[in-house]
Amino acid sequence: MKMKIAAIMTLMGMVSMAAMAGFGGCGGGAVCTESSNGLPVYRDSSVPVEGRVMDLLSRMTIEEKVGQMTQLDCRWIDSDTSQIAIYNLGSLLSGGGPALMDGRGSSPIPNIPREWANMYNKYQKVAVEETQLGIPLIYGIDAVHGCGNVWGAVIFPHNIGMGATWDPGTVERSAAVTATEVSATGIDWTFSPVCDVVRNEKWGRTYESFGEDPYLCGIMAAAAVKGYQGENLSSMDTILACAKHYVGSGGTENGIDQGNALLGDRELWEGHLSVFDAAVDAGAGSVMISYCKVNGAPSHFSRKLIDGTLRNKMGFESFTVSDWAAIDNMASYMKIDYKTGVGLAVNAGLDMVMVPDDAEKFQSSLLALVREGAVSVKRIDEAVGRILKTKFELGLFENPYADPDETNKIGSQPHRDVALQAAMESLVLLKNEGVLPLHKDTKTILVAGPSANSMANQCGGWTIGWQGCGTGQAQALPPPGTTILEGIMARAMPQTAVLFVESNTELARTAAKVSDVAIVVVGETPYAEYCGDAEDLNLSQGQQELIRAIAETGTPTVVVLVAGRPMIVEHLLKDVDGLLMAWLPGSEGQCVAEVLFGGYNPGGKLPLSWPRTMKQLPLNYDESRDENWADYDPLFQFGYGLSYTRFEYIGMALDRTKIQTNGSINITVEVKNVGERAGDEVAQIYIGCNGSKVDRPVMKLKRFKRITLEAGETKSASFEILAKDLAYYDMKTSSWEIEPIEYIAYAGSSFTDARLNKTFGVVTEQVKDAGGSKGFIPGFEIWLAISVIAIFAIIKRKWSVDK
Ligand code: BGC
Ligand code: BGC
Repeated sequence: MKMKIAAIMTLMGMVSMAAMAGFGGCGGGAVCTESSNGLPVYRDSSVPVEGRVMDLLSRMTIEEKVGQMTQLDCRWIDSDTSQIAIYNLGSLLSGGGPALMDGRGSSPIPNIPREWANMYNKYQKVAVEETQLGIPLIYGIDAVHGCGNVWGAVIFPHNIGMGATWDPGTVERSAAVTATEVSATGIDWTFSPVCDVVRNEKWGRTYESFGEDPYLCGIMAAAAVKGYQGENLSSMDTILACAKHYVGSGGTENGIDQGNALLGDRELWEGHLSVFDAAVDAGAGSVMISYCKVNGAPSHFSRKLIDGTLRNKMGFESFTVSDWAAIDNMASYMKIDYKTGVGLAVNAGLDMVMVPDDAEKFQSSLLALVREGAVSVKRIDEAVGRILKTKFELGLFENPYADPDETNKIGSQPHRDVALQAAMESLVLLKNEGVLPLHKDTKTILVAGPSANSMANQCGGWTIGWQGCGTGQAQALPPPGTTILEGIMARAMPQTAVLFVESNTELARTAAKVSDVAIVVVGETPYAEYCGDAEDLNLSQGQQELIRAIAETGTPTVVVLVAGRPMIVEHLLKDVDGLLMAWLPGSEGQCVAEVLFGGYNPGGKLPLSWPRTMKQLPLNYDESRDENWADYDPLFQFGYGLSYTRFEYIGMALDRTKIQTNGSINITVEVKNVGERAGDEVAQIYIGCNGSKVDRPVMKLKRFKRITLEAGETKSASFEILAKDLAYYDMKTSSWEIEPIEYIAYAGSSFTDARLNKTFGVVTEQVKDAGGSKGFIPGFEIWLAISVIAIFAIIKRKWSVDK
């Protein structure tokens, strides 16, 4: 396979030379042919993709090639679509918008699903009909929690809530629904999943991350990739995924967006790159480079990170795209001119540039660099080859247009059902002093707080507009759906009165006095990216007063938090009877009512550590080095979450006590539901070790499984741990090392509650009980041992090459 690609690349090189020598078209003697059915080879879908790419490249001028590498936001071309043909644009995006240019951002007017399909077709028609080669556009959008920009689409919980489900199946199903809704508009590509690992909740993009643990993030990112891309990229209802932001964005100093991540190679690999590795392994068809700097060096200009690590070590073969205006951004950071920035980025391995406004500026810079020999045509062909390959795989040449009738699927009930399930699974019950579930015969319920009836707040940023919807910068109309209040009203018994006070403290106090229970829904207002960076995660004064005023009446009070990250609530906790974390649940706000009334038993768990104070940040479980967690004092620990039932871990077994460095071990855990009703438990397996040469966490999450248990039921869950899961990244050898030492497997329901443990060893010599060689014919054992060693030698080499 690798050989084949090399051969193709050499041929591409020859083709480029022909093009450079002035043989731009087919007539110049370049290697282009007609296929047997009279079509140009690149138009013949029976020809393998590689052949189509080569044929098409051979027909392209250098301007057309640079065009393929150019991505503009549609808001800058709408008044003049001829730019698509003039600049041979390879790609368009609808950025976050709106509130720019003519006020509509990058959405059609009106913002309804059918108009999105019409808009897509309008642009695509120019590319297909008005350019020499008719190469279709690839159109991208930030469908990061559903097809968020499209009014009427189903809005899923943001990733932090998806992380809290600990259910990759749900993530995959949700991504598949998103893919169906996005592709109904014609759009081909989502800038998702975010593979960033949030290490400091001050970061404004915390909610875009699946959590603080790279293993959890990797599993979820891979599930999202599978959901978006399905089995076949050319299917009607699949879209291209984009693993972003490569790399380190969640690990910047002080949680500053687009900041600097100070990371040694070990931390980089173990804590951040491993998530991208998982997404690449799952087949992610594109990767977006991060605005952040790694040890002071902008990722966009880092050949080591892009060409070296991403391509050569991880084996990523498809194309990379820049972040929004990142070359301008990085050039000004480095105090260099834009053209120099283009050269650095393209030579580092950047294939497509999200310009996103001025095609002329980007293209004239890149063309000049090619003329000057600063960027080789070979490099251009490589980039364009990858982009074209993806376009062929997406079936764009065969089916370039959207069918506007398909948009009827958007926002459908079956899609809403999937989002509701995801939202219910994402809720984390953090405190419950017997107040929940609410009694059926509750006469009066007070619902209070600014997030109770706010679709804008429950959806957060990247919804309709970049900064979300509602007020301020985000002047967009919130999407249709059910607010938390509406959900409670619909779910309450007919004889129950529901009172609602949004924020008037005195009114709320009065209402609380006549209510049997109060539900106070508070949290954050929408934001995106750096606009959400925060030094203070306390609730606003007004919200704190509201909670106190209500709780002081003595009426049982439950706080529901609608926020993209933990907030500082310890001082409020003692006053209230219940705390439910709803994250940013999206359009299906009835999820909260399902939990409050007990229709759904909460089973979500924290995908990050919840701080008591701002001073504790950054606070991550794997920074703990004390076996009794004396140095880890969160308000709620990583992996924590309550249920309406109780679970006991009644047994743990390992299938062996020693494994070889290429072996694996099976861990079985028995969990019993000892309560009165069915519920979900997330069984978590952590691994620690004794005697490592390097500094290691007390224990690290290695496996998990969300399981449903009936009342009284016992289930066993099995987890296979490979020896390579125990490896650390060795900076000296730049490879993963598996130490032959003692390991401890812990099983339980959260980081500090992993009650059961068992020890096993990793050894370099052959393990008697690991080979299963019993009962084999004599002599076979020796043969087997030799093969195992040989295979191991190959695997080990591959391992250090791959990783
Ligand atoms: C765009 C977003 C983009 C942001 C970057 C906004 O104007 O709409 O798509 O992410 O700018 O700063
Ligand atoms: C963000 C990306 C996003 C892009 C396009 C950037 O500002 O960092 O996450 O995909 O804009 O909207």
